[in-house]
Amino acid sequence: MQANLMNGEHGKDTVSSTTTRTIQSKCWSFKILYFFLIFMVLGLGLCILSLNMIRYFGLRNMVLKESSRLEPCTDDTNILECWIRPPSKLMHNMNDSELFWRATFAPRIKEYPYKRVPKLAFMFLTRGPLPLSPLWERFFRGNEGLYSIYVHPLPGYQANFSRSSVFYGRQIPSQVTEWGKMSMCDAERRLLANAMLDLSNEYFVLLSEACIPVRNFTIVYRYISKSHYSFMGSYDERGPYGRGRYDKRMEPEVTLEQWRKGSQWFEVNRELALRIVEDRVYYPKFKEFCKPACYVDEHYFPTMLTIQVPHMLANRTLTYTDWSRGGPHPATYGKKDISKEFFDKILGRKLCFYNHRLVFLCHLFARKFAPSALEPLLSLSYEVFGY
Ligand SMILES: *[C@@H]1O[C@H](CO)[C@@H](O)[C@H](O)[C@H]1NC(C)=O
Ligand SMILES: *[C@@H]1O[C@H](CO)[C@@H](O)[C@H](O)[C@H]1NC(C)=O
Ligand SMILES: *[C@@H]1O[C@H](CO)[C@@H](O)[C@H](O)[C@H]1NC(C)=O
Ligand SMILES: *[C@@H]1O[C@H](CO)[C@@H](O)[C@H](O)[C@H]1NC(C)=O
Repeated sequence: MQANLMNGEHGKDTVSSTTTRTIQSKCWSFKILYFFLIFMVLGLGLCILSLNMIRYFGLRNMVLKESSRLEPCTDDTNILECWIRPPSKLMHNMNDSELFWRATFAPRIKEYPYKRVPKLAFMFLTRGPLPLSPLWERFFRGNEGLYSIYVHPLPGYQANFSRSSVFYGRQIPSQVTEWGKMSMCDAERRLLANAMLDLSNEYFVLLSEACIPVRNFTIVYRYISKSHYSFMGSYDERGPYGRGRYDKRMEPEVTLEQWRKGSQWFEVNRELALRIVEDRVYYPKFKEFCKPACYVDEHYFPTMLTIQVPHMLANRTLTYTDWSRGGPHPATYGKKDISKEFFDKILGRKLCFYNHRLVFLCHLFARKFAPSALEPLLSLSYEVFGY
């Protein structure tokens, strides 16, 4: 820049007279000195400023990082609000070890210092699509704030719900899941752990894409939240499909007398969910010694919870399943099966214990329903299910 400036002045010099030339050259040398000084000062100033900027912003970044580690959000107008707010996005980059560790943070003071509305977490373990979602949408409508939804599809599946759907953005990070294997229990624990990140979730219901609700939300919520027990199926079955699946190498953690069987489709409260996700005692035993034909998803949680907290279990499931047709898979109902009489038959006239009283209401959900059942289900849902 300086070189350029001088060159330009030389060009002007040649066209000037001698008298003006001397005055001018003196003038120019002063000007050059002047510019040089300004330049120096400016340079020095910039240098100091940039040094300070680095120090200031570096420090500020560090402070920000430090404070975000202390508080889950930077909104300090309402600190407690920040701590109890559920994650805004369900997708995260935590692996199972990290997720389970995070999910098992639990308060030791049992009274909440704020008005906590306990929510029902509906956890869908699916292969991909949810063909019966229009029925579920109808079931959930008008009950916002009382439920949350989590969907675990096969990895790579991208659900395509519209923004107005209750299923929009409710997919969690998933992994390959095989029927009857430990990866199935891993997926169930993953669903529980993800749902536990929302502190207001108090009850956790496991469902599949073939499940439907057979009562309206009001009844489902009341039935589950007023129960003294969690609805985990758990019974001692003699014979090859019960005790026959037990492996003596599970001792001493699990004895034959403690061995239980139960439906995979459970409802547990937060305390039980915590026990399932934190377990490191029974998990390795079941992983090693309960492989097909021992179907681990029918034994692991029922056995483990019966050992730890038998007094908290209703020992029955809320999900109706029809095993009467025999074989390893239950009956699937399609379009032709659906009628009011059909549901009267499978749901009515059955007695079960609810808080030590015999009641006629035993099931809140039912399976398995094929996609073809959707239309007839939608047309009788109000009359038969009350929604
Ligand atoms: C999760 O990541 C941590 C840190 O990279 C690693 O130590 C741990 O084994 C990982 N857990 C799983 C289940 O992959
Ligand atoms: C997703 O939805 C959009 C618009 O509703 C539709 O055009 C598209 O075909 C859908 N994709 C899949 C994979 O279903
Ligand atoms: C469930 O079974 C356990 C033992 O397996 C028992 O202690 C508990 O009382 C049962 N629950 C109910 C509600 O009867
Ligand atoms: C739910 O179902 C019950 C019984 O079927 C009915 O009395 C109640 O009005 C229904 N609630 C709503 C909100 O529809």
